[in-house]
Amino acid sequence: MDRKRKIDADGLNTKSSKKREGGDEGDEEDTFNYWTGNAFSGRYYDILKKRKALPVYDFKDELIKQVRENQVIVIEGETGSGKTTQIPQFLLKMLAKPGEQAIACTQPRRVAAMSIAKRVSEEMDVELGKEVGFTIRFEDCSNPNTILRFMTDGMLLREAMIDPLLSRYSCIVLDEAHERTLPTDVLMGLLKEILIKRKDLKAVIMSATLDAERFQKYFDGAPLMKVPGRTHPVEIFYSKQPESNYVDSAVRTAMQIHELEGKGDILIFLTGEEEIETVCTQLRLESDQVDHDKCGPLSVYPLYSTLPPKQQQDIFKPAPNPRVPGGPFGRKVVVSTNIAETSLTIDGIVFVIDPGFSKQKVSIMVYYNVIHII
Ligand SMILES: Nc1ncnc2c1ncn2[C@@H]1O[C@H](COP(=O)(O)OP(=O)(O)OP(=O)(O)O)[C@@H](O)[C@H]1O
Ligand SMILES: [Mg+2]
Repeated sequence: MDRKRKIDADGLNTKSSKKREGGDEGDEEDTFNYWTGNAFSGRYYDILKKRKALPVYDFKDELIKQVRENQVIVIEGETGSGKTTQIPQFLLKMLAKPGEQAIACTQPRRVAAMSIAKRVSEEMDVELGKEVGFTIRFEDCSNPNTILRFMTDGMLLREAMIDPLLSRYSCIVLDEAHERTLPTDVLMGLLKEILIKRKDLKAVIMSATLDAERFQKYFDGAPLMKVPGRTHPVEIFYSKQPESNYVDSAVRTAMQIHELEGKGDILIFLTGEEEIETVCTQLRLESDQVDHDKCGPLSVYPLYSTLPPKQQQDIFKPAPNPRVPGGPFGRKVVVSTNIAETSLTIDGIVFVIDPGFSKQKVSIMVYYNVIHII
């Protein structure tokens, strides 16, 4: 580690001479940041250690080779394997040119686009909005030199209306393709046409489930890469009777876990803002009332799509410290809609409480007594 952190003592490797010199893909071991020319921070190496432990890291060379040899590849990887945060980064040196062409990585959700961009900017040791940025409706946190842009699938679709060949990009990473949102499906159709016209454009279709063969078929037999995940043993406990008030019972279960179970944070799924805020208030009240000598502090964070971005980021904070040194451990509870189901990975979650309800957007059209639900 010390060797890596060694700064340019003899002054030969000046900032400008180090910037983007030669460099094949995959040399995160450099002392200097390839994109900024700055010396890496200590935090960069700390995160790098964690990145290297992710399952996708073992596939890095194979991925670069496949993308070099094929116009489209399909990647199927289990959740948390590092698809979204790592794969676009692996391709940067091969495919991105600051000020000319960038890599776009689409997400079905705004929260994911923002939080992943933030995480990746930290992993790359760059400032969010410069080399790595995000574009969501009403907010563009990127600049013309951005080389990796996380964006909602809807925003890329809008861009395709103005620039039908998506000429700003050398590679489009369509993430969470299995979710089959309308914009992602339309983008897939568009991509198929653009790829014929732009032989230099690369596409990476990423999906978490077993639908991958269908995407392969759609893209004329594009090669498929399978990345194993880091699965953990899961124990499931069902309530014995149907719950008449699932909101109250979620609070009750969370408090039981907090008081009786070992270390580990809690994730509660509920359907929307109102329920989530009610549960958060209730949990804060109840955790204040329990015996502080036996039970540690509880930090409660809500998560839903209309929550301000700053507050959305709070879910990544670590669990609180004990109230007094050596006292009972603290715990974090995230109360969320199903946006935390995929795309977002919250480290430290051990307990999940899921009443099983979620809101669905339903458009109903009535023609001559026939109801069409779309
Ligand atoms: N904001 C963050 N803060 C801390 N660690 C993070 C953050 N985002 C991701 N990670 C770490 O990076 C790992 C990989 O996350 P990533 O989102 O790339 O996985 P994924 O394969 O895309 O999962 P999914 O299928 O759920 O989208 C996580 O397991 C987590 O350890
Ligand atoms: Mg992902």
